[in-house]
Amino acid sequence: RKNDTLTAIASADNADAVEALRVEALGKQGWVSQLLKTLGKMTPEERTEKAPAIQQTRAEIADAIAARKQALDDAELDKRLATETLDLSLPAPEMPRGTVHPVSQVMDELAEIFADLGFAVKTGPEIENDWHNFTALNMPESHPARAMHDTFYFPDHDDDGRRMLLRTHTSPVQIRTMVNEGAPVRIIAPGRVYRSDSDATHTPMFHQVEGLVIDKDIHLGHLKWTLETFLKAFFERDDIVLRLRPSYFPFTEPSVEVDVGFEVVKGRRVLGGSGDAPGHAWMELLGSGMVNRRVIEFAGLDPDEWQGFAFGVGVDRLAMLKYGMDDLRAFFDGDIRWLQHYGFSP
Ligand code: PHE
Repeated sequence: RKNDTLTAIASADNADAVEALRVEALGKQGWVSQLLKTLGKMTPEERTEKAPAIQQTRAEIADAIAARKQALDDAELDKRLATETLDLSLPAPEMPRGTVHPVSQVMDELAEIFADLGFAVKTGPEIENDWHNFTALNMPESHPARAMHDTFYFPDHDDDGRRMLLRTHTSPVQIRTMVNEGAPVRIIAPGRVYRSDSDATHTPMFHQVEGLVIDKDIHLGHLKWTLETFLKAFFERDDIVLRLRPSYFPFTEPSVEVDVGFEVVKGRRVLGGSGDAPGHAWMELLGSGMVNRRVIEFAGLDPDEWQGFAFGVGVDRLAMLKYGMDDLRAFFDGDIRWLQHYGFSP
């Protein structure tokens, strides 16, 4: 029986066949295993006489099985090596590669510039309540500025009975930061904001970066220096000229609208130089001001001890200016040709 088994193993032509032979001989119920069991019932003399032959059979069959398995594996590998070829001299297929979106790119740049000035980055929820978005920013229920925000409201109120809405600006992050962390504060807050508005320069969703500094003895000069430093770093030019115009925001007093000088070169607005110089003009860039003492009170701080400045700037607008893009809506179309045109995708 041993020789029959060895012959069958040697001619088995696949792994399943070898395994079946192994079970038949060496498995629990296999005939070699049965023979091994008979040794237990023998007298010592008998056992000494018969054991070596049985052990020998078991070892020979086990070796034959291992050898056959190896041989079949080798043959399989040879076959694959002969048929599967890989030509390493062929050029690799082009893989489409993504890039950072201009809006994300600008937000990253802003975070870096302001990090150098000691500003931390804060975020807040896009689904806000009207207390953080309006009331605490000195816009009570009846305030006309609320109507100017084209707010998207939710039908539901939150657990505290506040109206829920999509935040219309990043200014609620000012309140959240002061309430949660107290003073002093030195932060920027980038993020999405929403207003029911849509044309070439307005999309219902857009991006802002809020800046907030709260400390002791902060004045308008600090605001002007910070904005100048930030804009020069962002636009990578030293000839950026700002014009501060009196304005009005309920949450800042005084409020200043900041314009930047530009020149039209080959149909494009190029920042730099005074807007009053020949061939130059001013462009409104951002809103800012000294934080209204009412806002500092709403946030639970003492306005006689703490004061500061805040600003809010459109990120998409900054990106358009820096990269010469002209239609805001294209930012959110996801058209790869548009990104490629402005050098954002290979
Ligand atoms: N939140 C204002 C807006 O969206 C901008 C702003 C922020 C103005 C901070 C002053 C201070 O128009």
